[in-house]
Amino acid sequence: MEPQALREEALAAVAAASTAAALDDVRVHYLGRKSPLKLALREVRDRETGMALNAAREAIERAVAARQEELERAELDRSIAEDRVDVTLPGTLHPRGRLHLISQVRREVEDIFLGLGYEVVDGREVETTRYLFDALNMPENHPTRSPLHTFYLDDDTVLRSETSPSQIHTMEAKQPPVFMVSLGRCYRRDTPDATHFPIFHQVEGLAVDRGITLADLKGTLRTLLRALFGEEREAKFVTHFFPFTEPSVEVLVSCFQCDGAGCSMCRHSGWIEIGGSGMVDPNVLRFVGYDPEEVSGFAFGWGLERIAILRHGLPDIRDLWANDLRFLEQF
Ligand code: DAH
Repeated sequence: MEPQALREEALAAVAAASTAAALDDVRVHYLGRKSPLKLALREVRDRETGMALNAAREAIERAVAARQEELERAELDRSIAEDRVDVTLPGTLHPRGRLHLISQVRREVEDIFLGLGYEVVDGREVETTRYLFDALNMPENHPTRSPLHTFYLDDDTVLRSETSPSQIHTMEAKQPPVFMVSLGRCYRRDTPDATHFPIFHQVEGLAVDRGITLADLKGTLRTLLRALFGEEREAKFVTHFFPFTEPSVEVLVSCFQCDGAGCSMCRHSGWIEIGGSGMVDPNVLRFVGYDPEEVSGFAFGWGLERIAILRHGLPDIRDLWANDLRFLEQF
């Protein structure tokens, strides 16, 4: 065993080891219990050979330790450089849900009226004939009382065919002034087609106070129309009939597709019907114990589907119920 040659060979092997595992192999090979160096050390007889062998051992041990440190630092540098989190990389996109178009319209209308100082009131989808018909001044022979029109659960329990009974519940619960809207589902025995569906939504509005006039109705509903369909829209009010309002007024908006010039959307009239309204009939005020000589009010009831259909030019109301994501995702 030639210590000097062994040392040079070992140091070369240490320098050539490029990974921690390779370096460990080199260490075992030159310094391990069964390495020629260790075996030679065990059998050493004279002092000089012992010193030379020990010097070689120490040199190799130092080289291994130094190389180990070098490799660890290189690994650390590499991981700092390469394993950095790149926050600019696009992340994993999770599919986000959204509100159904009708819920969006509903919240928008609620926001508009909250902004006007109205309260949003819950209604009941299951009503009694007293609230759906009698309180709303419907004559005994009114067609809406027919089971062909309204869903009856028993003789005097019905699914509401309009949101108007919410007016009665609100007025029974408090004294004027009343400024409320109530939005929700209604039910009618309609056969589904492009413009009808047996379940639909309405917004009901009611304002009762001293000195409320038709001018308040017009101003409020014009504000609603402009918030929904654009600031340039004009409103037109034409006479109509509802049992619970007198006078009753149909509200029309200037066509937002042709700006009044006439097109297929407005059936070439320049105007689009939006919904019903009117001054609350004195009989309705009396029914809830209000004095029609003291207070007056206006009310309105519009369909949310109609608002959505008009705003987006939807071809078929049934699309709102088909739960086809390709349709719903567009809004
Ligand atoms: N309830 C009516 C309907 O479903 C809409 C309506 C018209 C509501 C006039 C009102 C109103 O409050 O004053 O056709």
